Amino acid sequence: MSLTLTKRMRRLRVSSAMRNLVQENHILAHDLIMPLFVIEGTNVKEPISSMPNMYRYSLDLLIKECKELYQLGVQAIVLFPCISDSKKDKLASEAMNQDGLYLRALQEIKQAIPDLLVITDIAMDPYSTDGHDGFVNDKGEIENDRTIEILQNMALAQAQAGADILAPSDMMDGRIGAIRRALDQENYTNTNLLSYSAKYASAFYGPFRDALSSAPKKGDKKTYQMNPANSQEAIREVELDLQEGADIVMVKPGLPYLDIIRIVKDRFQVPVAAYNVSGEYAMLCSAAQNGWLDYQACAMETLLSFKRAGADMILTYHAKEAATWLQEV
Ligand code: PBG
Repeated sequence: MSLTLTKRMRRLRVSSAMRNLVQENHILAHDLIMPLFVIEGTNVKEPISSMPNMYRYSLDLLIKECKELYQLGVQAIVLFPCISDSKKDKLASEAMNQDGLYLRALQEIKQAIPDLLVITDIAMDPYSTDGHDGFVNDKGEIENDRTIEILQNMALAQAQAGADILAPSDMMDGRIGAIRRALDQENYTNTNLLSYSAKYASAFYGPFRDALSSAPKKGDKKTYQMNPANSQEAIREVELDLQEGADIVMVKPGLPYLDIIRIVKDRFQVPVAAYNVSGEYAMLCSAAQNGWLDYQACAMETLLSFKRAGADMILTYHAKEAATWLQEV
Protein backbone atom coordinates (compact mmCIF):
# COMPACT_ATOMS: atom_id res chain seq x y z
CA MET A 1 0.00 0.00 0.00
CA SER A 2 1.58 3.29 -1.10
CA LEU A 3 0.90 6.74 0.24
CA THR A 4 -0.59 9.11 -2.29
CA LEU A 5 2.01 11.84 -2.31
CA THR A 6 1.58 14.52 -4.96
CA LYS A 7 5.33 14.73 -5.38
CA ARG A 8 8.18 12.38 -4.53
CA MET A 9 11.57 14.11 -4.68
CA ARG A 10 13.37 10.76 -4.45
CA ARG A 11 12.10 9.72 -7.94
CA LEU A 12 14.83 11.85 -9.52
CA ARG A 13 17.50 10.27 -7.31
CA VAL A 14 16.87 6.59 -8.09
CA SER A 15 20.02 5.97 -10.12
CA SER A 16 23.29 7.58 -11.01
CA ALA A 17 22.11 8.23 -14.58
CA MET A 18 18.92 9.86 -13.31
CA ARG A 19 20.87 12.03 -10.86
CA ASN A 20 23.27 13.08 -13.61
CA LEU A 21 20.36 14.14 -15.80
CA VAL A 22 19.08 16.65 -13.27
CA GLN A 23 22.42 17.83 -11.89
CA GLU A 24 22.45 21.64 -11.76
CA ASN A 25 26.15 22.44 -11.36
CA HIS A 26 29.28 20.84 -12.78
CA ILE A 27 33.02 21.22 -12.33
CA LEU A 28 35.04 21.32 -15.50
CA ALA A 29 38.83 21.26 -15.61
CA HIS A 30 38.79 24.57 -17.44
CA ASP A 31 36.96 26.31 -14.57
CA LEU A 32 39.98 25.61 -12.38
CA ILE A 33 43.01 27.85 -11.96
CA MET A 34 46.14 26.36 -10.38
CA PRO A 35 48.27 28.58 -8.13
CA LEU A 36 51.99 27.88 -8.56
CA PHE A 37 55.11 29.11 -6.77
CA VAL A 38 58.38 29.83 -8.59
CA ILE A 39 61.85 29.98 -7.02
CA GLU A 40 65.41 30.57 -8.35
CA GLY A 41 67.58 27.64 -9.41
CA THR A 42 67.37 24.57 -11.60
CA ASN A 43 65.86 21.21 -10.82
CA VAL A 44 64.44 22.54 -7.55
CA LYS A 45 61.17 21.16 -6.17
CA GLU A 46 60.95 22.34 -2.58
CA PRO A 47 58.05 21.07 -0.46
CA ILE A 48 55.95 23.68 1.36
CA SER A 49 55.52 22.28 4.85
CA SER A 50 52.08 23.75 5.62
CA MET A 51 50.69 22.76 2.19
CA PRO A 52 51.12 19.02 1.56
CA ASN A 53 51.98 18.15 -2.07
CA MET A 54 52.59 21.80 -2.96
CA TYR A 55 56.08 22.90 -4.00
CA ARG A 56 58.23 25.85 -4.92
CA TYR A 57 59.44 25.01 -8.42
CA SER A 58 62.46 26.31 -10.28
CA LEU A 59 61.55 27.54 -13.73
CA ASP A 60 62.57 24.36 -15.61
CA LEU A 61 60.34 22.16 -13.42
CA LEU A 62 57.61 24.79 -13.34
CA ILE A 63 57.30 24.61 -17.12
CA LYS A 64 57.05 20.84 -16.92
CA GLU A 65 54.28 21.23 -14.35
CA CYS A 66 52.45 23.75 -16.57
CA LYS A 67 52.56 21.34 -19.50
CA GLU A 68 51.07 18.58 -17.38
CA LEU A 69 48.32 20.89 -16.17
CA TYR A 70 47.48 21.99 -19.69
CA GLN A 71 47.31 18.39 -20.88
CA LEU A 72 44.86 17.66 -18.07
CA GLY A 73 42.62 20.49 -19.28
CA VAL A 74 43.60 23.14 -16.74
CA GLN A 75 43.88 26.20 -18.96
CA ALA A 76 45.01 28.82 -16.48
CA ILE A 77 47.60 29.22 -13.73
CA VAL A 78 48.25 32.01 -11.26
CA LEU A 79 51.92 32.50 -10.51
CA PHE A 80 53.55 33.73 -7.28
CA PRO A 81 57.27 34.44 -6.82
CA CYS A 82 59.41 33.28 -3.94
CA ILE A 83 62.03 36.02 -3.74
CA SER A 84 65.24 35.65 -1.71
CA ASP A 85 65.60 38.14 1.16
CA SER A 86 68.66 39.72 -0.48
CA LYS A 87 66.53 40.90 -3.42
CA LYS A 88 63.79 42.48 -1.30
CA ASP A 89 63.61 46.22 -0.60
CA LYS A 90 61.14 48.90 0.53
CA LEU A 91 60.01 49.69 -3.03
CA ALA A 92 59.64 46.12 -4.35
CA SER A 93 62.11 47.06 -7.13
CA GLU A 94 62.74 43.44 -8.06
CA ALA A 95 59.17 43.26 -9.38
CA MET A 96 60.18 45.56 -12.25
CA ASN A 97 63.38 43.69 -13.19
CA GLN A 98 62.75 42.15 -16.65
CA ASP A 99 65.65 39.74 -16.02
CA GLY A 100 64.33 38.90 -12.55
CA LEU A 101 62.80 35.57 -11.61
CA TYR A 102 59.12 36.45 -11.99
CA LEU A 103 59.14 38.26 -15.31
CA ARG A 104 61.49 35.70 -16.84
CA ALA A 105 59.14 32.97 -15.67
CA LEU A 106 56.16 34.68 -17.34
CA GLN A 107 58.05 35.01 -20.63
CA GLU A 108 59.27 31.44 -20.64
CA ILE A 109 55.92 29.89 -19.72
CA LYS A 110 54.17 31.85 -22.49
CA GLN A 111 56.87 30.76 -24.93
CA ALA A 112 56.63 27.09 -23.94
CA ILE A 113 52.81 26.85 -23.72
CA PRO A 114 51.33 29.86 -25.56
CA ASP A 115 47.71 28.75 -25.02
CA LEU A 116 47.98 28.44 -21.25
CA LEU A 117 46.54 31.58 -19.64
CA VAL A 118 49.02 33.08 -17.25
CA ILE A 119 47.58 35.14 -14.40
CA THR A 120 49.95 37.31 -12.41
CA ASP A 121 49.83 38.75 -8.92
CA ILE A 122 50.09 42.51 -8.43
CA ALA A 123 51.04 43.43 -4.86
CA MET A 124 54.31 44.38 -3.19
CA ASP A 125 54.47 41.74 -0.44
CA PRO A 126 56.62 39.02 -2.07
CA TYR A 127 59.29 41.64 -2.94
CA SER A 128 58.99 43.92 0.06
CA THR A 129 61.23 43.99 3.15
CA ASP A 130 58.11 45.10 5.06
CA GLY A 131 56.00 42.15 3.89
CA HIS A 132 53.08 44.45 3.14
CA ASP A 133 51.10 44.72 -0.09
CA GLY A 134 51.68 48.48 -0.13
CA PHE A 135 54.44 51.00 0.54
CA VAL A 136 55.15 51.47 4.26
CA ASN A 137 56.25 54.99 5.28
CA ASP A 138 58.38 56.09 8.25
CA LYS A 139 55.35 56.20 10.50
CA GLY A 140 54.52 52.61 9.64
CA GLU A 141 51.46 53.56 7.57
CA ILE A 142 50.63 51.89 4.25
CA GLU A 143 50.55 54.77 1.75
CA ASN A 144 47.82 54.25 -0.81
CA ASP A 145 48.74 56.68 -3.57
CA ARG A 146 52.48 56.07 -3.39
CA THR A 147 51.72 52.35 -3.75
CA ILE A 148 49.57 52.90 -6.85
CA GLU A 149 52.54 54.21 -8.84
CA ILE A 150 54.54 51.10 -8.00
CA LEU A 151 51.61 48.83 -8.88
CA GLN A 152 51.24 50.57 -12.25
CA ASN A 153 54.88 49.83 -13.01
CA MET A 154 54.48 46.21 -11.89
CA ALA A 155 51.48 45.89 -14.19
CA LEU A 156 53.31 47.31 -17.19
CA ALA A 157 56.29 45.04 -16.60
CA GLN A 158 54.03 41.98 -16.37
CA ALA A 159 52.05 42.94 -19.46
CA GLN A 160 55.30 43.42 -21.34
CA ALA A 161 56.44 39.97 -20.21
CA GLY A 162 53.33 38.52 -21.85
CA ALA A 163 50.87 37.92 -19.01
CA ASP A 164 47.27 37.36 -20.16
CA ILE A 165 45.49 38.45 -16.99
CA LEU A 166 46.83 40.77 -14.29
CA ALA A 167 45.43 40.22 -10.83
CA PRO A 168 45.90 43.03 -8.29
CA SER A 169 45.65 41.44 -4.84
CA ASP A 170 46.73 44.47 -2.84
CA MET A 171 43.36 46.17 -1.98
CA MET A 172 44.63 49.75 -2.42
CA ASP A 173 41.93 52.24 -3.41
CA GLY A 174 41.84 53.26 -7.06
CA ARG A 175 44.39 50.76 -8.30
CA ILE A 176 42.18 49.13 -10.92
CA GLY A 177 41.51 52.44 -12.70
CA ALA A 178 45.13 53.52 -12.42
CA ILE A 179 46.43 50.21 -13.78
CA ARG A 180 43.87 50.18 -16.62
CA ARG A 181 44.94 53.70 -17.66
CA ALA A 182 48.62 52.79 -17.57
CA LEU A 183 48.00 49.67 -19.67
CA ASP A 184 45.86 51.44 -22.25
CA GLN A 185 48.40 54.23 -22.63
CA GLU A 186 50.96 51.62 -23.64
CA ASN A 187 48.47 49.83 -25.92
CA TYR A 188 47.99 46.77 -23.72
CA THR A 189 44.27 46.98 -24.40
CA ASN A 190 43.80 43.19 -24.47
CA THR A 191 45.44 42.54 -21.12
CA ASN A 192 42.65 41.56 -18.71
CA LEU A 193 42.25 42.68 -15.11
CA LEU A 194 41.06 40.18 -12.54
CA SER A 195 40.57 42.18 -9.38
CA TYR A 196 40.81 40.73 -5.90
CA SER A 197 37.80 42.95 -5.16
CA ALA A 198 36.40 41.52 -1.94
CA LYS A 199 39.57 40.35 -0.24
CA TYR A 200 39.20 39.88 3.48
CA ALA A 201 41.83 40.24 6.21
CA SER A 202 41.80 36.50 6.82
CA ALA A 203 43.77 34.13 9.02
CA PHE A 204 43.36 31.49 6.29
CA TYR A 205 46.31 32.94 4.31
CA GLY A 206 48.85 31.61 6.84
CA PRO A 207 50.26 28.71 4.81
CA PHE A 208 50.63 30.93 1.71
CA ARG A 209 52.74 33.40 3.68
CA ASP A 210 54.91 30.47 4.82
CA ALA A 211 55.32 29.43 1.19
CA LEU A 212 56.63 32.85 0.15
CA SER A 213 58.12 34.01 3.48
CA SER A 214 55.96 37.08 2.90
CA ALA A 215 54.26 37.62 6.26
CA PRO A 216 54.12 41.28 7.39
CA LYS A 217 57.13 42.20 9.52
CA LYS A 218 54.98 44.55 11.60
CA GLY A 219 51.25 44.85 12.14
CA ASP A 220 48.56 43.21 10.05
CA LYS A 221 46.71 43.88 6.79
CA LYS A 222 43.51 45.20 8.35
CA THR A 223 43.91 48.78 7.08
CA TYR A 224 43.55 47.56 3.49
CA GLN A 225 41.95 44.09 3.47
CA MET A 226 38.27 43.87 4.45
CA ASN A 227 36.75 43.16 7.84
CA PRO A 228 35.38 39.56 7.81
CA ALA A 229 32.23 40.85 9.50
CA ASN A 230 31.10 42.87 6.47
CA SER A 231 29.11 41.99 3.36
CA GLN A 232 27.62 45.28 2.13
CA GLU A 233 31.12 46.68 1.92
CA ALA A 234 31.95 43.86 -0.52
CA ILE A 235 29.28 45.17 -2.89
CA ARG A 236 30.84 48.64 -2.76
CA GLU A 237 34.32 47.23 -3.43
CA VAL A 238 33.11 45.20 -6.42
CA GLU A 239 31.07 48.11 -7.79
CA LEU A 240 34.08 50.44 -7.67
CA ASP A 241 36.38 47.92 -9.33
CA LEU A 242 33.88 47.38 -12.13
CA GLN A 243 33.50 51.14 -12.64
CA GLU A 244 37.28 51.39 -12.80
CA GLY A 245 37.51 48.69 -15.46
CA ALA A 246 37.89 45.26 -13.84
CA ASP A 247 37.04 42.43 -16.26
CA ILE A 248 36.64 39.74 -13.60
CA VAL A 249 36.05 40.21 -9.86
CA MET A 250 37.17 37.89 -7.09
CA VAL A 251 36.00 36.94 -3.63
CA LYS A 252 38.69 35.67 -1.26
CA PRO A 253 38.89 33.48 0.83
CA GLY A 254 36.41 30.97 -0.53
CA LEU A 255 34.60 28.58 1.79
CA PRO A 256 33.90 30.98 4.68
CA TYR A 257 32.67 33.57 2.14
CA LEU A 258 30.28 31.61 -0.12
CA ASP A 259 27.54 34.07 0.84
CA ILE A 260 29.59 36.92 -0.62
CA ILE A 261 30.08 35.03 -3.90
CA ARG A 262 26.32 34.60 -4.18
CA ILE A 263 25.60 38.26 -3.40
CA VAL A 264 28.14 39.45 -5.97
CA LYS A 265 26.91 37.04 -8.65
CA ASP A 266 23.27 38.04 -8.16
CA ARG A 267 24.03 41.73 -8.13
CA PHE A 268 26.46 42.11 -11.05
CA GLN A 269 26.33 40.38 -14.43
CA VAL A 270 30.07 39.79 -14.63
CA PRO A 271 32.47 36.85 -14.32
CA VAL A 272 33.20 35.99 -10.68
CA ALA A 273 36.25 34.13 -9.39
CA ALA A 274 36.56 32.43 -6.00
CA TYR A 275 39.88 31.75 -4.25
CA ASN A 276 39.89 28.51 -2.28
CA VAL A 277 42.91 29.66 -0.25
CA SER A 278 45.92 27.96 1.31
CA GLY A 279 44.41 27.59 4.80
CA GLU A 280 41.30 25.91 3.40
CA TYR A 281 43.56 23.50 1.51
CA ALA A 282 45.69 22.83 4.61
CA MET A 283 42.61 22.09 6.75
CA LEU A 284 41.34 19.43 4.40
CA CYS A 285 44.79 17.89 3.94
CA SER A 286 45.40 17.57 7.66
CA ALA A 287 42.01 16.03 8.39
CA ALA A 288 42.51 13.56 5.53
CA GLN A 289 46.03 12.67 6.74
CA ASN A 290 44.51 11.76 10.08
CA GLY A 291 41.99 9.54 8.36
CA TRP A 292 39.13 11.76 9.50
CA LEU A 293 37.86 12.86 6.08
CA ASP A 294 37.72 11.32 2.61
CA TYR A 295 40.07 13.66 0.76
CA GLN A 296 38.85 13.30 -2.81
CA ALA A 297 35.15 13.38 -1.94
CA CYS A 298 35.54 16.45 0.28
CA ALA A 299 37.70 18.28 -2.27
CA MET A 300 35.17 17.73 -5.07
CA GLU A 301 32.27 18.68 -2.79
CA THR A 302 34.14 21.87 -1.90
CA LEU A 303 34.74 22.78 -5.54
CA LEU A 304 31.10 22.14 -6.35
CA SER A 305 30.04 24.46 -3.53
CA PHE A 306 31.83 27.33 -5.28
CA LYS A 307 29.98 26.68 -8.53
CA ARG A 308 26.69 26.44 -6.65
CA ALA A 309 27.42 29.75 -4.90
CA GLY A 310 27.84 31.37 -8.32
CA ALA A 311 31.57 31.34 -9.06
CA ASP A 312 32.52 30.97 -12.72
CA MET A 313 36.11 30.04 -11.96
CA ILE A 314 37.98 28.75 -8.93
CA LEU A 315 41.57 29.36 -7.92
CA THR A 316 42.40 26.19 -6.01
CA TYR A 317 45.37 24.09 -4.93
CA HIS A 318 43.18 21.08 -5.83
CA ALA A 319 43.15 22.06 -9.53
CA LYS A 320 45.60 19.45 -10.79
CA GLU A 321 44.28 16.50 -8.83
CA ALA A 322 40.67 17.48 -9.55
CA ALA A 323 41.45 17.56 -13.27
CA THR A 324 42.94 14.06 -12.92
CA TRP A 325 39.86 12.78 -11.10
CA LEU A 326 37.58 14.34 -13.72
CA GLN A 327 39.40 12.37 -16.43
CA GLU A 328 38.80 9.13 -14.53
CA VAL A 329 35.00 9.35 -14.54
C1 PBG B 1 49.21 38.72 -1.20
C2 PBG B 1 48.45 37.48 -1.46
C3 PBG B 1 48.02 36.61 -0.45
C4 PBG B 1 47.38 35.53 -1.08
C5 PBG B 1 47.42 35.77 -2.46
N1 PBG B 1 48.08 37.00 -2.67
C6 PBG B 1 48.22 36.66 1.02
C7 PBG B 1 47.95 37.90 1.75
O1 PBG B 1 47.14 38.74 1.35
O2 PBG B 1 48.56 38.05 2.80
C8 PBG B 1 46.81 34.35 -0.34
C9 PBG B 1 46.58 33.10 -1.11
C10 PBG B 1 46.34 31.90 -0.27
O3 PBG B 1 46.29 31.95 0.98
O4 PBG B 1 46.22 30.82 -0.86
N2 PBG B 1 49.14 39.76 -2.06
